[in-house]
Amino acid sequence: MDLRRRIFLLLLLFSVQLICLVKGNIVFKVQHKFGGRGAGRSALTSFRAHDSFRHGRMLGAVDLPLGGNGQPTDAALYYTKLSIGNPSNDYHVQVDTGSDILWVNCVGCDKCPTKSDLKIALKQYDLKASSTGKAVTCDQDFCSAMFNGQDPDCKVGAFCDYAVTYGDGSRTEGYFVRDDIKLDEVTGNLQTSSMNGSIAFGCSSKQSGELGSSSEAVDGILGFGQANTSVLSQLASSGKVKKIFSHCLDGVKGGGIFAIGQVVQPKVKSTPLVPNEAHYNVVLKSVEVGGGSLDLPTDLSGPGSQRGTIIDSGTTLAYLPDEIYERLMEKVMERQPNLKTQIVEQQFKCFDYSGNVDNGFPVVSFHFEDSLSLTVYPHEYLFKISDEEWCIGWQSSGMQTKDGKEITLLGDIVLSNKLVVYDLENQTIGWTEHNCSSSIKVRDEKSGNSYTVGAHDISSSSILSRGNIISFVLLIAFLLNLID
Ligand SMILES: *[C@@H]1O[C@H](CO)[C@@H](O)[C@H](O)[C@H]1NC(C)=O
Ligand SMILES: *[C@@H]1O[C@H](CO)[C@@H](O)[C@H](O)[C@H]1NC(C)=O
Ligand SMILES: *[C@@H]1O[C@H](CO)[C@@H](O)[C@H](O)[C@H]1NC(C)=O
Ligand SMILES: *[C@@H]1O[C@H](CO)[C@@H](O)[C@H](O)[C@H]1NC(C)=O
Repeated sequence: MDLRRRIFLLLLLFSVQLICLVKGNIVFKVQHKFGGRGAGRSALTSFRAHDSFRHGRMLGAVDLPLGGNGQPTDAALYYTKLSIGNPSNDYHVQVDTGSDILWVNCVGCDKCPTKSDLKIALKQYDLKASSTGKAVTCDQDFCSAMFNGQDPDCKVGAFCDYAVTYGDGSRTEGYFVRDDIKLDEVTGNLQTSSMNGSIAFGCSSKQSGELGSSSEAVDGILGFGQANTSVLSQLASSGKVKKIFSHCLDGVKGGGIFAIGQVVQPKVKSTPLVPNEAHYNVVLKSVEVGGGSLDLPTDLSGPGSQRGTIIDSGTTLAYLPDEIYERLMEKVMERQPNLKTQIVEQQFKCFDYSGNVDNGFPVVSFHFEDSLSLTVYPHEYLFKISDEEWCIGWQSSGMQTKDGKEITLLGDIVLSNKLVVYDLENQTIGWTEHNCSSSIKVRDEKSGNSYTVGAHDISSSSILSRGNIISFVLLIAFLLNLID
């Protein structure tokens, strides 16, 4: 490795494009994306934001307008719009609670997407065109924090490089820059005004693999993970916000609510986050199908046997360990003994059904530590591919970490139509059923008032039906080696 221009592997983001298929006019775009920080993790603990001086605690709330949807046959992702630079430009970035940093495509980028089927105008960030933009150099705190101290080979003026590798083999790399990001600060009921923050983020100069595919291209990814390198952590360490955020992903209409700040309404019950995990991990105690407990052979909770249940907005479906998956599927199909399922694209179990699925199939609920449960209705875990054909969103993860832990990963089909609150200050995560096209109330610490934040859908139009078929090989072997 060339030490002077060393590429630091900051984080590994596993993005398995499980499948894309055309059936009739419907294209599946199921995304399985979750981040793991691997070697970078311990290095992050000493990080302090470059400008972490505080002028008292001026904690505001922020409203991030959402677009996109979690439909496997449609956008299959949620994104928000950020305004970056001076003069500023708008960038559409996927919101992903499974990864940490913000990065956007930069001018001159090799193989970055130039058009998107999501009907958003793509924009590449131009460092030279922004009067406030500066490259982050390897001697700066932000860079040192990534690697537990400064790179001994850091030369004056050398950039702070990064690379992000995805599970499907695609990759983005570039260098860190710092610039002003404008966010919508909540200043009244359904009212916002512009707030500035100086944020370090990745400027992608090269991409490979499917990341640039136009079918779901966005300008970048906004990671809402726990690391100190995240936008949320940077805003918090400069005294602008509390480390609390929430999302309500509208599984019916698309878009929804995404806000930073303490939620005062609706009230949510919460469960503790498992400490020192790379993802938002909670302890699953039991699973019920149609009111009856699944008989699970091994202990789900307790130290040692703990199965990480990952909560990740950047994943579309839900992935269960084999033994849970088998038992759950048996129960789900129990009331429909005559139903014939066919495997579509070697991946999805699908069947013909003309009735109301909520009457024909059972409700599934997951029970977590501290008596928090999460209910998933049949119309949420089943998705329609034609008038009378449905597919099942539950997937067998078939994945294990190196030390033999099986992965449970709950994505958008499970998280949608609920308000999910991530409280990093108290290390809890909670949720409650909520109408995601309505509103929530967040607390503005500056004034002490509570303000209404409403739903948004910034998607310009529905994007059902696409022409291109893209197929991927599921790189399970790759994941088996990398997840730890
Ligand atoms: C982030 O930084 C703060 C101090 O700036 C430190 O207390 C905290 O432990 C760090 N957290 C992580 C996850 O690195
Ligand atoms: C945001 O930054 C721009 C450029 O530095 C400056 O003109 C503007 O006053 C700032 N706004 C706020 C609210 O700080
Ligand atoms: C976080 O914990 C503190 C202390 O236990 C408590 O006062 C506060 O209300 C909690 N915050 C939330 C949002 O639950
Ligand atoms: C959800 O809220 C929206 C906006 O307030 C309202 O129009 C709609 O009827 C609500 N849906 C349900 C199912 O209550």
